[in-house]
Amino acid sequence: MSIGNRWGNHQGFCPHRNLCRKRRKKAVSAEIAIEQINQEISPKIQNLNLTQKELDQILMTGEWGSNATLAVSAAFFKQKIKSATMPWSKKLPSLMMLMFEGKKHGNKNLKIQEFMIVVDQIEKGVEFYQRVKDYLEQERIITTVGSEGGFSPPNFDDEKILDLLKSLGAKKIALDVAASHSEINSSILLNIVRRYPIVSLEDPLSESDWQGWQDFYHQVREINPEILIVADDLTVTDKEKVKKGAEEKLFNAVIIKPNQQGTITAAAEAIRIAKSLGTKTIVSHRGRETNDAWIVDFALKHQSDFVKFGAPCRGERVAKYNRLSEIVGEDKARPDKPVKSGFDSS
Ligand code: PGA
Ligand code: ZN
Repeated sequence: MSIGNRWGNHQGFCPHRNLCRKRRKKAVSAEIAIEQINQEISPKIQNLNLTQKELDQILMTGEWGSNATLAVSAAFFKQKIKSATMPWSKKLPSLMMLMFEGKKHGNKNLKIQEFMIVVDQIEKGVEFYQRVKDYLEQERIITTVGSEGGFSPPNFDDEKILDLLKSLGAKKIALDVAASHSEINSSILLNIVRRYPIVSLEDPLSESDWQGWQDFYHQVREINPEILIVADDLTVTDKEKVKKGAEEKLFNAVIIKPNQQGTITAAAEAIRIAKSLGTKTIVSHRGRETNDAWIVDFALKHQSDFVKFGAPCRGERVAKYNRLSEIVGEDKARPDKPVKSGFDSS
């Protein structure tokens, strides 16, 4: 089951007991989660003919760790994938593919956590990743990677990375600032938006600065009215927070991480609310992941606008891209329902 590297104060899930106790969160270790599943959840659901929603309702009413509930909820979802024909033929999501990363995920000099490019085809992102790698090797710069597979050279700063991406031809850059974990001055971010082709900015302010978000959203859109301002730590896939923030115009896109709420239904609900308010959705993996790739099917089933699966590097990230390729291939093999996405165009 995937877990994050960072713990926002509003997160519903934490496998690290001590960390969570400190933050007063419901906390379960992996061992306790397994115990809860086997001894408490399993007897409640065995031999019942439930829908996903009914199952998740049971899971949401209990006092179980959300890593325990999501494991059960996702297992049910995976079973359904095998037995159902999914509506793959609709528009496929664009990809926010990771190139560089730092802070909790790598190089500690950085103020921005993730540097991604936005592409419509996996191949395009992989080619660009390779271009970055070739450049680093040619310059004899170390190509070790961070926790999501992005390059993380120790002596680079934010500006050097942005300059490099731009000089290598990046036209659409997406950043995850993760400001809850080390704030960055808003005027620095506004300058970055002026100087580089930034199309998306995630968590530009701390999750506790509701007013700051509102002001920033207004300011940044005067520079670039098309930019996506993305909430992750601020909304933690909670439908009420998504609704409130979108209505009060704090952001125009949200990250959806199923393990922040602990069931497939809760994450799907957050997507539904976001879409109903015209807010873009980005289904996302976590900092620490397994090779499980059901999140790809989840993103497609719920027609997420974007997906974030890290860099095309490290087995647990590549597993997601492989699943996506497989689905695109499967879809192309169904001539009655052609793919209408950017995957078909260049
Ligand atoms: P996390 O970070 O999963 O390690 O919390 C990823 C992100 O912030 O998007
Ligand atoms: Zn984030």
